[in-house]
Amino acid sequence: MKILAIESSCDETAAAVVEDGRRALSGVVRTQIPLHAVYGGVVPEIASRAHTEAIASVCEKALADANCTMEEIDAVAVTNRPGLVGALLVGVSFAKSLAYRYRLPLYGINHLRGHIAAAYLMDPALKPPFHALILSGGHTFLARVNGYTDFTLIGTTRDDAAGEAFDKVARVLNIPYPGGRELQNMADAYTGEELYPLPSPALKEDPFDFSFSGLKTAVVNLAHNLAQKGETLDGNKLAASFTRTVQEGLKNRLKNVLETEDVETLVFAGGVAANTGLRTALGNFCDEYCIRFLPVDVSLCGDNAAMIGAQAYYEAQNGVPAELTLNAVPRAEVNE
Ligand code: KG4
Ligand code: ZN
Repeated sequence: MKILAIESSCDETAAAVVEDGRRALSGVVRTQIPLHAVYGGVVPEIASRAHTEAIASVCEKALADANCTMEEIDAVAVTNRPGLVGALLVGVSFAKSLAYRYRLPLYGINHLRGHIAAAYLMDPALKPPFHALILSGGHTFLARVNGYTDFTLIGTTRDDAAGEAFDKVARVLNIPYPGGRELQNMADAYTGEELYPLPSPALKEDPFDFSFSGLKTAVVNLAHNLAQKGETLDGNKLAASFTRTVQEGLKNRLKNVLETEDVETLVFAGGVAANTGLRTALGNFCDEYCIRFLPVDVSLCGDNAAMIGAQAYYEAQNGVPAELTLNAVPRAEVNE
């Protein structure tokens, strides 16, 4: 079954052709980052307009790269939740028109399930049940994947997403948006032993939930306090301290999960899962507890449509297609 998948939930316009949920025949991602960087974050109205301009050519390229025509496509899938509503609507409207024109079944896909499904493209033998830790610019959660379309949310962030915290710390260091990748380079460059003390993103009142806002604020306060005292802030040391604090917070949550349930495989995905420091730390943690660690390839960590096509295959196996009344839904958890 060949699915043409479309993703436009935030600041990447993406399309891919995916076969049987496991093989991406093509994958095109057109990023809008340069348009938003001057504003220090994603501007929803600019995102919608840029999606409108890009979507047709991105889909055409995905078909051409896969060496196939619309007549060879069996279904159309599109991210319809969660995300920026105007951005989502561009993909949803385009997907609907394609489904109508070519008389194809249409599937509305949960973006968060898509991030998890990127792992199906990594390992053709991967089957639920398994666990997933998803860290991105908009979302942060731990879930048990009971079945391809059956999820239990174990823990989530009470405030900011991990990626927002990375980008905020980068901003303190005058790194342009989105600064997560550059922050990694600075952390890697730090050779010292001493770290700045920072509060954990592992929430005290709950064993599984996260809170990144206190950590973010602590970094801002640290920078102000040092500036007031006339002391210099060591950027590499801050990047390393922040990354280490996030690592420890993630390990703390995983340890708590291990106390309550068996974890055989841990999938690690989402834009922040590209971080080498986090990948190494979680890899070592999983080795220690005899868990199979499956970090998604860096090329599939950020938003893309191949992951949407992978999930869509299983939604198609398990459900009925959407009507042409399919709408964009700005807020949804992985199990909704
Ligand atoms: O998954 P994604 O592309 O978009 C959302 O669904 O939100 O994630 C984007 C986020 C940004 O916050 C970006 O700074 C962060 O992922 N990111 C990283 C790295 N690469 C991207 N954060 C830490 N280390 C990286 N190497
Ligand atoms: Zn995402």
